[in-house]
Amino acid sequence: MLISDFHTTLVPLLSCVPKQQIFVFVDANTAEHCLPVVVEEYPVLQSAPVLVLPAGEENKSLHTAELAWSFLFEHHATRQAVVINIGGGMVTDLGGFVASTYMRGIRCINIPTTLLAMVDASSGGKTGLNCCGIKNGVGTFSQPMETLIYPAFLSTLSSQDLLSGLAEMIKHGLIRSEKHLRDLMALLPDLDLQYSSVIEDSIAIKKAIVDADFKENNIRRALNFGHTIGHAIEEAYAAEANAIAHGYCVMWGMVAELYLSVIKLGCPRSVLTDMSHLMIEYYGRPMCNCRQREQLITWMLHDKKNFVASNGSDSQPQISFTLLRDIGCPIVDQVVSKEELNEALEYLFSL
Ligand SMILES: NC(=O)c1ccc[n+]([C@@H]2O[C@H](COP(=O)([O-])OP(=O)(O)OC[C@H]3O[C@@H](n4cnc5c(N)ncnc54)[C@H](O)[C@@H]3O)[C@@H](O)[C@H]2O)c1
Ligand SMILES: [Zn+2]
Repeated sequence: MLISDFHTTLVPLLSCVPKQQIFVFVDANTAEHCLPVVVEEYPVLQSAPVLVLPAGEENKSLHTAELAWSFLFEHHATRQAVVINIGGGMVTDLGGFVASTYMRGIRCINIPTTLLAMVDASSGGKTGLNCCGIKNGVGTFSQPMETLIYPAFLSTLSSQDLLSGLAEMIKHGLIRSEKHLRDLMALLPDLDLQYSSVIEDSIAIKKAIVDADFKENNIRRALNFGHTIGHAIEEAYAAEANAIAHGYCVMWGMVAELYLSVIKLGCPRSVLTDMSHLMIEYYGRPMCNCRQREQLITWMLHDKKNFVASNGSDSQPQISFTLLRDIGCPIVDQVVSKEELNEALEYLFSL
C-alpha cells in the first residue's frame, strides 16, 4: 500500500508483536538513506536489532542468508518475530526468503526503497536468492504481512536504478495496458515519479496478474516477458564481474523478445521500433557481443522459468517464451527455435 508516513501504518501492524521480536534488515545504502526516516516516524525501532547486509546482487546469496539466520538466532528471535525488510529487491528477496524459512517461517513487512522493488520485487510473494550459479535458483512463495510504499525514498536513488525500475513498469504497460505505457512515456526524460499515479497503476497491474495465478501455472508467466533473454544477458554480465541493474537487462530482453513477437505472432513492427528507439536513447546497448550468443542460449536453457521441451522428432531442447500479439495481449508458452532466437539476438546486437 502507498503510504505517506510510517507511524500510522506500523503502529497497528505491530501492535501485537513484542518489541524485542521486531528485527530490521537493511543494506549499507538503505541504512544511510532510508532507515533514519522510518525510525524517526516510528521510534520503537530505535531499540530493534538491525542487520546491515552488504549491498549488491552478488550478495543475494546463501552465505548472506546464513548470516541473517544466525543474526536471528543470536537475538533469540521466536516464531512471533517480525522482520522488516528496508531496501531494494536484493533486501526484500533475501529478507523475505530468510523470514519464510527461519523456524519454518516467520512474518515480514517489506518497505521497498527502489523503484524496481516498489513496482515489482516486493509484491507478488516471490522470495529467493541466487544459488549454484542460477539466478533466483532457490526461493519460496511467501507473502509479506504488508508492503509499504513510500515514494519519497526515490529521491536518493541513482538515475540508473530509476531506469531499471522503469523497465519493469514498461513491461507492465506492454503486457497489460497501452495507457500505462503512454503515461510512462510522458514522464520521460525527467522521471519525476513521486507525485504521479504511475507507481500505483503499475502495482495494480502486477497484483491483478498475480491474484489470477499465484503459483505461476499460466498467466503469471506474462510477467516473465523480456526476462528469458534478459536473465541470460544478466548472467553474461555477472560472468565478467560487471555490475548491471536488473531492469537494463529486462529492457534489452524485451526488445529481442518483441522481435520474436513480430516474426512469430505478427505483433505490429511499430511497437518493436518504438521500444528499440527508447532502449537506445535511455538504456544504451548491451555490452555482450554476438560471439557470446551460444553462451546466452545455454544460460536460457538453464533458467528455471524456461519450460524446456523437446519437439518429438529430434531431442533438441527448446526454450519457451512469453511473446506479445500486440500491446496488452501476451501469449505464454511460445516455443522458439534456435534459428529464430539467433535472429532475435542478431537484431538486438545490430541496433
Ligand atoms: N521477487 C520478485 O518478484 C522480483 C521481481 C523483480 C526483481 N527481483 C529482484 O530484485 C533485485 C533487484 O532489485 P533492485 O534493482 O532494487 O536492486 P538492489 O536492491 O540491489 O538496489 C539497487 C541499489 O540501490 C541501492 N538503494 C536502494 N534503495 C536506495 C535508496 N532509496 N537510495 C539510494 N540507494 C538505494 C541499493 O543499496 C543498491 O546499491 C534482483 O535481485 C531481482 O532478481 C525480484
Ligand atoms: Zn524483473
